[in-house]
Amino acid sequence: MPQTPSLPGTTDRRLAALLALLSENATIVISGARIAREIGVTRSMVWRWVEELRKLGVHVKGQRSTGYFLEKVPDILTPDLLRKRLKGSLLGKRVLHYFKTDSTNRIAMELGFAGEPEGTVVLAEEQTAGRGRAGRSWHSEKGTGLYVSILLRPRLAPAQAPLLTMLAGISAQAAVESLTGLTAELKWPNDLLLKGKKLGGILTEMHAEPTSVRFIVIGIGINANQEKFPPEMAGVATSLRKESGRMTFRLELLIRLLAQFESDYRVFLSEGAPFVVDRFQKVSDFAKGRRVRVDTGVDTYQGTTAGLSPEGLLLVSRDQGPLTTVIAGDVTEVR
Ligand code: BTN
Repeated sequence: MPQTPSLPGTTDRRLAALLALLSENATIVISGARIAREIGVTRSMVWRWVEELRKLGVHVKGQRSTGYFLEKVPDILTPDLLRKRLKGSLLGKRVLHYFKTDSTNRIAMELGFAGEPEGTVVLAEEQTAGRGRAGRSWHSEKGTGLYVSILLRPRLAPAQAPLLTMLAGISAQAAVESLTGLTAELKWPNDLLLKGKKLGGILTEMHAEPTSVRFIVIGIGINANQEKFPPEMAGVATSLRKESGRMTFRLELLIRLLAQFESDYRVFLSEGAPFVVDRFQKVSDFAKGRRVRVDTGVDTYQGTTAGLSPEGLLLVSRDQGPLTTVIAGDVTEVR
């Protein structure tokens, strides 16, 4: 398994190995001697790593004399388990896990500038400055949502980058549906909605030359187990838990999301824009026949969505005016 060089703030390799060992053997008491052997520390140091985990909120039972165990598998995006499940895949090659960081997109962008190869995935249990679209922030409460960024180096023109945002939306919708049975609505270009409220979003950031992309970071946030949101978001945000009444095992959701995205990404690289545009129109009711208001920042108008252009841009048939291609801006449904 590739070893992750320690980057400031990433989860320590020994801590991650301890978490994986306890999770894979949940309910079974594991002796200090075995833990020491498997995670590569001295027996006398085992308690220190157990204490570290406890400080991070993992309920490790047991004590030095008897050994340690977990009562159930914790809902943590345990990087070692993830790497095992994604073995052999592009997105399982290098997984960086943070218990807490400012923004996984910020880190992935920095790695991109430092020459990090394609496929690296950055995960966090909590973000203190999660970034949303249009300079907004992304509510990133500890251990409840999925906060993940993927670094890619596709050979694309910068104008094609939005197709990757749409592709990630398609993959996220499929992953959510396969795990929970809930069909989220895909709102162009990057929103996942359930009953009209925001379930997830995608923020693509990139570094490009005028004609070619150097690297792209696809940041995906999905509200999984939030029970409630801050008052200002309560009317507009929802989670899988709120809609289904059930807890979602985030690690499983993440595995499905990454596997789905990787397979969609490969098809996109070989087939190009038509794959994304066709799929998006198939799985998004929003793309055609919806009454919308478009706010471009300089102009606001109402109309009806009329499908996507071959480049993946939304077409809106204006109430007063021609068929218009939305290049950027906020599109809201008017009911
Ligand atoms: C949106 O506004 O709809 C996009 C939200 C994107 C949030 C994700 S969470 C993981 C990644 N890191 C960030 O700072 N933002 C994205």
